[in-house]
Amino acid sequence: MSVVDEVEAKKNITLKQLQYLLDGNEAAYLKERALAVRREHYGNEVFIRGLIEFTNYCRNNCYYCGIRRDNQNVDRYRLSEGEIMECCTEGYRLGFRTFVLQGGEDGFFTDEKICHIVSSIKGSFPDCAVTLSIGEKTRESYKAFFEAGADRYLLRHETANDAHYQRLHPSELSLANRKGCLNNLKDIGYQVGAGFMVGSPGQTTQTLCDDLQFLRELNPHMVGIGPFIPQHDTPFAAEKTGTVDMTVTLLAVIRLLLPRVLLPATTALGTIDPVGREKGLMAGANVVMPNLSPKRVREKYALYDKKICTGEEAAECIECLKRRVNKIGCSVVCDRGDYR
Ligand code: SAM
Ligand code: FES
Repeated sequence: MSVVDEVEAKKNITLKQLQYLLDGNEAAYLKERALAVRREHYGNEVFIRGLIEFTNYCRNNCYYCGIRRDNQNVDRYRLSEGEIMECCTEGYRLGFRTFVLQGGEDGFFTDEKICHIVSSIKGSFPDCAVTLSIGEKTRESYKAFFEAGADRYLLRHETANDAHYQRLHPSELSLANRKGCLNNLKDIGYQVGAGFMVGSPGQTTQTLCDDLQFLRELNPHMVGIGPFIPQHDTPFAAEKTGTVDMTVTLLAVIRLLLPRVLLPATTALGTIDPVGREKGLMAGANVVMPNLSPKRVREKYALYDKKICTGEEAAECIECLKRRVNKIGCSVVCDRGDYR
């Protein structure tokens, strides 16, 4: 039996098997099987999520992140509720049925404000899903957002290895707390997304294996992975960028481990390779997340350098993506794109 067949059959992977696949063995077959599994559950449909980056203020200081607290060179902004609603209105017109509100951990947006925004969106667009991606909060806060109508929550675990977590974050942040948040979110009833960066400083095959085992245990509805890309004003400015091959291999492995998972081909992957997102979709990914933020703030949400799609209007972005998706034999659907 090939390693790929074994991983697919057992929905599990050993450290040795992971190393073997990361070395490029059975690469074509791995992608072929991942694509087949994706098709089995989702056909050739690609789901779109409209990403609204509504604040780049953040109280955290993650070493990898361009909008970390200590970066004095960020031109900070917040969108008003009215501006967020305008993004949704335009997004709805363009066919989006999921809105993802993402931002730094910004104390200005109290629970009350977030709840108000969520319920306004759900009130105006009842057929849409609202996803939040605003970091670590208390169980009570998560519960309040859920009761206000939020359907999904994205909180990448970043790494499931304690020592590696400490390499990526200052001491006030802990893996235990991050995991606790993910458990709370699941427990409350959210569709939950975890994930990690590929090629982050200090990452090893062992830490990646820990990530995959963590994902198997958590069994999230979504998994967001993309290459680590250095940002010039962070402590990791001089670190190496994650690779396309490694990201694509891991996307395919995740599809085999969690066959029904919603798996985005991320903007970061499109940033390090002009056809990176297409490569991701051909290796088992089934989601893309075009930017719906107003053009004037796009460049200010600079998590990493050379981020793509910062100069286009939302309409241009979605048209471009539709063409790209069609070219590889898939089609973008106007749907909430729930977990099946
Ligand atoms: N504050 C929220 C949180 O912590 O989940 C959401 C925003 S945070 C910027 C979203 C994700 O961006 C992080 O989970 C991280 O994996 C990713 N990210 C940050 N810096 C990055 C970099 N330099 N390269 C690639 N991805 C990065
Ligand atoms: Fe807070 Fe990156 S450090 S969003």
